Parts: sequence; C-alpha cells; structure tokens
Amino acid sequence: MAGVSDDGETKPATAARIYDYFLGGTHNFPADREAAQAMLQVLPLGPQLARTNRAFLRRAVRYLAESGVRQFLDVGSGIPTEGNMHEIVQQVEPEARVVYVDIDPVAVTESLELLDSNPLATAVNADLRDPRSILSHPQVTALLDFDRPIGLVLGAVLHFVSDDETAYDAVGQLRAAMVPGSYLLLSHATADEAPHEQDEIDVAHDIYRRSTATPLGLRTRAQIERFFTGLDLVEPGVVWLPLWRPTPDDPQYFADDPTRSAGLGGLGRIPPHLE
Ligand SMILES: C[S@@+](CC[C@H](N)C(=O)[O-])C[C@H]1O[C@@H](n2cnc3c(N)ncnc32)[C@H](O)[C@@H]1O
Repeated sequence: MAGVSDDGETKPATAARIYDYFLGGTHNFPADREAAQAMLQVLPLGPQLARTNRAFLRRAVRYLAESGVRQFLDVGSGIPTEGNMHEIVQQVEPEARVVYVDIDPVAVTESLELLDSNPLATAVNADLRDPRSILSHPQVTALLDFDRPIGLVLGAVLHFVSDDETAYDAVGQLRAAMVPGSYLLLSHATADEAPHEQDEIDVAHDIYRRSTATPLGLRTRAQIERFFTGLDLVEPGVVWLPLWRPTPDDPQYFADDPTRSAGLGGLGRIPPHLE
C-alpha cells in the first residue's frame, strides 16, 4: 500500500506511523501527521533523530551479515521504508532469513505486501512484552532455526516498553532462546547527558501518551547497558548512535555533537556457555 487509504482517516496515531512520517515515508494517516507535527514544534530534530537511528541499524545489520549471521529477528520493526533489513542482509547473503515483528497491525500488513515475493522474509503481529508469543509463533519457528545463531534486533522499541521489569524480562527470554554466537542489537532513546531540554522531552512524552497506544519511557546509559549484561560487546560498545562504526554514507546530522542524537546503540554477542 502506498499513501493513505480512505479508512485511514479514522485511524489513531501510532508510534510506527509517526516514525514513518519522520523518515519521509508515505505509510501514515492524518492523526499520525498531526501528532508528528505537534512533536516537531518542540522537537524539530525528530526526522534527523529517526534517520540517524535507521542509519545505525543499517550499519550494524550489515556488520552482522558480513560476520556470517544468516537469520534475523527484528522486533518493533516498524513500517517498511527504503534500506530495510532484509534488503541489506540479502545483498550480503541472498539466503539470509528475516522475521519482522511489530505490535502495529498496519506495519505488519504493509511489511507483508512488500515481502510478497520474498520467501525468506516475513512479518508477524506480536508484542515484545509477551516474548513467548514471538518465540512460539508458527511463522517464526518455520523460518528461523533456533539451533543456529540469530541476530535479534530491537531498534528504537524498548523505550516503548517503559516498565523496567517487563523490558528486562522480555529481552532476557529472547536472549535465552538463542544459541551462543547469536547477537543482540539495540538502539534506545535516552535523556542522559541532557542532550535536549527537559521540556522538549516532557512534551514528547505527553504526545506519545495522548496519541498512541505506546507511551515513551527513556532510560539512562546504565539502564541501557544492562540489556547487554553477560554479552561480549562489539567495539566500540554502547555509544551515541552516530559514533557506532560510522561510514561516509551516513547522514551527518550530529557530527559536531553526537549527544544530540539522543540515542544510544550497541551490539553484543552471546558468548559460548561456560562449562
Ligand atoms: C520508532 S519505531 C522503530 C522502527 C525500527 N525498529 C527502527 O528502529 O527503525 C518503533 C516500533 O516499535 C513498535 N512497537 C512499540 N511497542 C511494541 C511492542 N510492545 N511490541 C512490538 N512492537 C512494538 C512500534 O509499533 C513501532 O513500529
């Protein structure tokens, strides 16, 4: 589907479609654009933040594919826009398999349309807060082999799981289902080191709370690093998004001050089990 369908006029805003709007996509409805515009009033860097996050994920996913990872589970995958994960990893390895998971049924429908002719990639509607529903989903188990390494991608989604216990438990269960040699890749919004004014953050919180089903919950660097506990972090560790193995092709939005990207990202490898 391209653009807005007629029944889109009545759809409430979602995080996936606000993000799509910020990325310059066409998969958003009036309520999404209204919420995004309200956010832009106080957070004019919204589109740059979204593109910087997407560029980080592209670099890290390419790194994983080039390191030999052949299966990917992308939870909170969002709306398909240019440079999606399956395109990147299947450029490196045409047989790579990708399962996209999102709580937003519109994101899933649009992903499925995009993936129509791709037998090695699919999308399912499930909730990160219920990891068992992901791990036991028939399409997940049909496409991914949990006896072999998997790249688990949690891009800009954990800040929509604001309850700490739920978030750490969900990531713990997903990690536990994966064999050594698998990876956790995540990016997360943070208010650490105060890159944005507090009232900007408060308004963003407020807009998400009022307009979407998924309120925003920022975490500190230490809280974000905790998701990687016990993993071998790939250099340069958990860093501001523009600083993770940058390339000349990246958007150069925050070159002078990476802290203004307001997002931290990292990649960790599950080490061999200790005997
Ligand atoms: C900001 S977008 C990120 C999209 C993509 N991962 C990226 O980083 O470019 C966040 C996505 O997470 C999804 N999401 C939010 N809460 C979720 C949950 N509990 N389970 C699964 N997906 C969720 C939203 O629907 C949205 O598509």
